[in-house]
Amino acid sequence: MNYEDLLNKEKIPQHIAIIMDGNGRWAKKKGQPRVLGHRAGVKTVRRITEACAKIGVKYLTLYAFSTENWNRPAFEVNALMRLLVETLNKEVKILNKNNIQLQTIGDLTGLPKRSKAAMEKAIEATTSNNRMRLTLALNYSGRWEIVEAAKTLAQKAIAGEINMADINEEAFSAALTTYDMPDPDLLIRTSGETRLSNYLLWQLAYSEFYFTPLLWPDFMENDLYEAIYTFQNRERRYGKTSEQLDE
Ligand code: IPE
Ligand code: IPE
Ligand code: MG
Repeated sequence: MNYEDLLNKEKIPQHIAIIMDGNGRWAKKKGQPRVLGHRAGVKTVRRITEACAKIGVKYLTLYAFSTENWNRPAFEVNALMRLLVETLNKEVKILNKNNIQLQTIGDLTGLPKRSKAAMEKAIEATTSNNRMRLTLALNYSGRWEIVEAAKTLAQKAIAGEINMADINEEAFSAALTTYDMPDPDLLIRTSGETRLSNYLLWQLAYSEFYFTPLLWPDFMENDLYEAIYTFQNRERRYGKTSEQLDE
């Protein structure tokens, strides 16, 4: 089925977050080293980024490397960091051509110098693009981010810049790394796993979740459109009853 034609163009999610999972298993199935799975995964990133921009998604946030991923074998971590630098250097031109801005969330200070520098350079080079924002979550952990926000607010309270009463959900959201983005409407996770793995814990409070058994390198444009089509046919009730939404 071609899902693109079925999409309601008036109801395209503004923000899609994706947990790109299954690169390793994809490679294993083919009898290849895991790193080749990550290389194939980069191609999917390119495809899905362009498809999102094409249909009018405004924010695409991809989980590229979790804080927990440092626990993988050094060989794989190094390969991932090298792949990041290589990809960023190559992709900037295409991002500019497509008017896509690059951003990052996560603790960049924990990245190898070269990865951090490549990231900063790519962000700088795409800063004035405004068709869509592509955010890479790198060395990211939802709990880390929440703790950091709590520290920021505590610091301000100690300095007398804010009162206790000023600490509300809005102020908390504004202290997160995603302060200038709307919350994701849709979360997609590939590879059949049905967990959050420490991703955007605060921001996903009312997002619709979509899980697919497809491995990330096999995830195609039409699979993205199917996810969005499914999203469009769900009812987001935000605690209300179905009847109330019709009023
Ligand atoms: C996701 O694929 C990519 C990263 C975590 C960097 P995995 O590498 O987790 O693939 P599986 O889950 O082992 O198949
Ligand atoms: C989550 O995938 C992190 C990224 C996609 C970057 P993992 O494959 O690391 O997640 P777990 O450890 O299986 O939950
Ligand atoms: Mg995985």
